[in-house]
Amino acid sequence: MEKLIITGPTPLKGEVEINGAKNAAVAILPATLLINGVCTINNLPNISDVQILCKILEKMGAKITWNSSNEITIDTRNINTTQAPLDLTSKFRASYYLIGAMLGRAGKIEVGMPGGCKLGARPIDQHIKGFELLGASVEVRNGAISAKANCLKGNSIYMDVVSVGATINIMLAAVLAKGTTVIDNAAKEPHIVDVANFLNTMGADIRGAGTDVIKINGVEKLHGDCTYSVVPDQIEAGTFMLAAIASKGDLLIKNCITKHLECITAKILEIGGNVEDYGDSIRVWYTKRPNKAIIKTLPYPGFPTDLQPQMGVVLSTANGTSIINESIWESRFQYTDELNKMGAKITAQGKSAVFEGVDELFGAPVYSTDLRAGAALIVAGVSANGVTEVYNLQHIDRGYENIEEKFRKIGANIQRVKE
Ligand code: EPU
Repeated sequence: MEKLIITGPTPLKGEVEINGAKNAAVAILPATLLINGVCTINNLPNISDVQILCKILEKMGAKITWNSSNEITIDTRNINTTQAPLDLTSKFRASYYLIGAMLGRAGKIEVGMPGGCKLGARPIDQHIKGFELLGASVEVRNGAISAKANCLKGNSIYMDVVSVGATINIMLAAVLAKGTTVIDNAAKEPHIVDVANFLNTMGADIRGAGTDVIKINGVEKLHGDCTYSVVPDQIEAGTFMLAAIASKGDLLIKNCITKHLECITAKILEIGGNVEDYGDSIRVWYTKRPNKAIIKTLPYPGFPTDLQPQMGVVLSTANGTSIINESIWESRFQYTDELNKMGAKITAQGKSAVFEGVDELFGAPVYSTDLRAGAALIVAGVSANGVTEVYNLQHIDRGYENIEEKFRKIGANIQRVKE
């Protein structure tokens, strides 16, 4: 078992480079199954979710060559099974994208029931509804999902909830379907646009991604022989923006799309932080104790649930009492118990939490309960007085590449040690 040992407080200062987006990469990799050919993907984050997906694709017959630590060439001409390895697919969430992609490619697939962070109920009814409206039959049995279709046909699909996963999955299944599919009440996250851009680069005809109506005109086939670069990770960028404020630092965050960060920028300005926007990089710095705030997480372009714990760290030491309402995941406040061990005064109940701002946090042993909780605890450890030990790093490694190295480069006293 590994843990991080962080000695704080350290004001984080300097420059940090953002990697490609995890939640785009984990959809683009399965999307390569729709191409019967070769393509190169760069700006791929080298994180454990990506490594597991590559293993799954290889087990299904794909040939993957790592050209560098952030670029692969993938050849999907010899996919030889419609059975994805159940043990690996049930390890993480995004394995559900294999369903949409393989329905499109082969009309059949079996995958393990998707796992991922324990954030409360994570139903996939909207994915299934979409596949069925395109003509597939879907069965969930013994911890696995099987789906099959003789011929997928375009349809109008209204999403009852705004779902990132279901929007992308239906888009994947619809790309090679006959006729036109319209997804209404679609999610609008930057990674949805990125997956659509990837598919369009390969010959798909998807319009409207980034709005709440996406139209997919089915095409005969996709071609390979393309290179695609994954969009920068807005959640990683936001994590460092909030780390700059929490640690009383000054960071230049490079390789990001600042348009995707507007809701975070707005909140940082509202609590009294400073932001300078350069389009593809952003400087964030602290000058005074943050003001209290009221935050509600919402689908994009609202404040992202995936930055809620990191914002929680900032509000733990804000001037006054803040409230966060979490509208996406019912169990996303598990990190507050850990912050309370560090001296925070947070009362979480259901989907709301009240943060009474304290003067400072103190180091403590803490456990990451999910990916973003883990990132938040690192931010807390850097900002707190004394030594913090962060456990359960497997959650953090799922979504952040070289996290301790990035924090060390901007001044954190942080080490990964084996127990
Ligand atoms: N929902 C349903 N039915 C469905 C699908 C979703 O009721 O069929 C509900 C969920 O229970 C949730 C809401 O709709 O309340 C939104 O869920 P969504 O489908 O958008 O989430 P997801 O696709 O499972 C992705 C990210 C999450 C991120 C959410 C919200 C990936 C692999 N995961 O999850 O990322 O929190 O969107 O933005 O893209 C993370 O990166 O730490 C992470 C958890």
